[in-house]
Amino acid sequence: MGLHFNLLTLFPEMFPGSLALSLSGRALEKRLWSYHSLNIRDFAGDRHKTVDDTPYGGGAGMVLRADVIEAALLSLGERPQRKIYLSPRGKVLNQPLVQELAAAQTDITLLCGRYEGVDQRVLDAHEFEEVSIGDYVLSGGEPAALILMDACIRLLDGVMGNEDTAGEESFSAGLLEYPHYTRPAEWTDSSGVSRKVPEVLTSGDHGKVKEWRRAQSLALTRNRRPDLLPPSS
Ligand code: ADE
Repeated sequence: MGLHFNLLTLFPEMFPGSLALSLSGRALEKRLWSYHSLNIRDFAGDRHKTVDDTPYGGGAGMVLRADVIEAALLSLGERPQRKIYLSPRGKVLNQPLVQELAAAQTDITLLCGRYEGVDQRVLDAHEFEEVSIGDYVLSGGEPAALILMDACIRLLDGVMGNEDTAGEESFSAGLLEYPHYTRPAEWTDSSGVSRKVPEVLTSGDHGKVKEWRRAQSLALTRNRRPDLLPPSS
């Protein structure tokens, strides 16, 4: 079982990409998640394997054809699926949406666009949600799909090496992470400046450590990302 992703793409070789390595790679081997990447070109209706055409109304670039995308989609069969088109027009991916997707009881189908876009009619006909990974434009949806998948996979049960890590995150839910330190306790950088680890962290007082980390998280969030704070704080 586990979380299953279908990928509709013109570049199926881009998957699993980086997800074959590290935590997600081990989780793939353990079948905690799986994927099936389909080459959209295999669903072209003509012998030239045409997947795109010029936009009605004129303008630059090419548009992926609705009939070709639909044929690829229908080849997946009847299994229930959440259909997502990766696009800078979509709602911006955030941790609550990642949590929701990681807990999905259905397959997740990710449509990766190229060129100028996809014929709107196939998005409408099959009720694709649109998701963006941020306010910038990539040359295709594949890296966005990999990012969405990575964010979901690390939340699956049994994926993280250190089970504490998820708990740490909920402790500071919605805030930026506090700074981390490891040995040596005193380190001289290449400019000759001696830098000590904050004393509280070597004090052995777990209550104080927790308090300090929380305060650091709050201060960082206030400084860098006040938009993340609830309106009251
Ligand atoms: N495709 C191109 N740019 C994108 C973005 N920012 N997010 C998701 N998919 C995209």
